[in-house]
Parts: sequence; C-alpha cells; structure tokens
Amino acid sequence: MKLHKYEKIWLAFGTGTLLVFLIVVGVSAFYMGNQPPSCAVTLDPALVDQEQPFNDPGLVQIGDNEYQFTIVASAFDYNVGTDDKVVKIPKGATVHFNVTTKDVIHGFEIAGTNVNMMLEPGYVSTLTNTFKKEGTYTLLCNEYCGIGHHLMHATIEVVDE
Ligand code: CUA
Repeated sequence: MKLHKYEKIWLAFGTGTLLVFLIVVGVSAFYMGNQPPSCAVTLDPALVDQEQPFNDPGLVQIGDNEYQFTIVASAFDYNVGTDDKVVKIPKGATVHFNVTTKDVIHGFEIAGTNVNMMLEPGYVSTLTNTFKKEGTYTLLCNEYCGIGHHLMHATIEVVDE
C-alpha cells in the first residue's frame, strides 16, 4: 500500500494529537488528582431541615483558616446562615462547600472564582476553594429554576483581617 506524503503527515498529526490528549488527561487525573465528582452522598430532600449539618447552615471554622460552609438552596433562596445573606470569609481561607437543595435543581456559582456546581435534589454537592483575593463575590444561581430564579443570590465578602 502506498501512502501519499500528505496522508502520512495527517496520520502522524492525528496520532500525535491523540497521544497529547491522552497524556493531558492522564496527568490531570492521576498526578493532579482531578476526578469526576462522585454522587456518593445522598439524602432525602424532604428531610434536609432535619439532617446534620443542613439543619444549621452557615460557616464553621474547622481548622487554621479552614472552614466548612454548609448551604441549603431552595426556590428561590440560599440559606447561608445569616439574615442578610452576607457571609464574611477571611482572606486566604480554605472553604469546603457542602451544599444541597430542598426542591428543584439549582446552580451554585460564585462569580469570579472557580466555584461552580449543580445542585440536585437528593444529593450533596461539595467543592473546596481557597479565597486568595479580597473582595465582594456574588453567589448566584445559574440553572433556571423558576419564576424567582434571578432573585437567588447571596454575597461573600473576602476580608483581610
Ligand atoms: Cu435557583 Cu435558578
């Protein structure tokens, strides 16, 4: 079989690209530890208010500048544990988000950060983020969830103490 010169070039290019992608995925998964989120933690959406820790949402310090942040989403609100929907987080803090929804699917995005999750009834969504920069960040819903979708938000203030 005779291969045209251009065919050989494109074959080499295609094979090379495939190898590069496989290496990128491999390094990302096994060296950097990026794994798909597991949906191992489940709960009954109707009983969210009674289950630990969702019966008492809010920011709790668990270590040296390390926090557990429990949030309950519902149409059309984020219960972040404060009346004014503003939560202050010290600059440089590592925050473990622990979030669920009581009713329908909601989004969970903190604009300007890498925090972006989908909240599904019956599941607990978790993510860890370190807030390195001071500022005011908006937590918002980015999944259309009903008539009050655009009202769903809270504020995170990263403060230098
Ligand atoms: Cu909740 Cu859109």
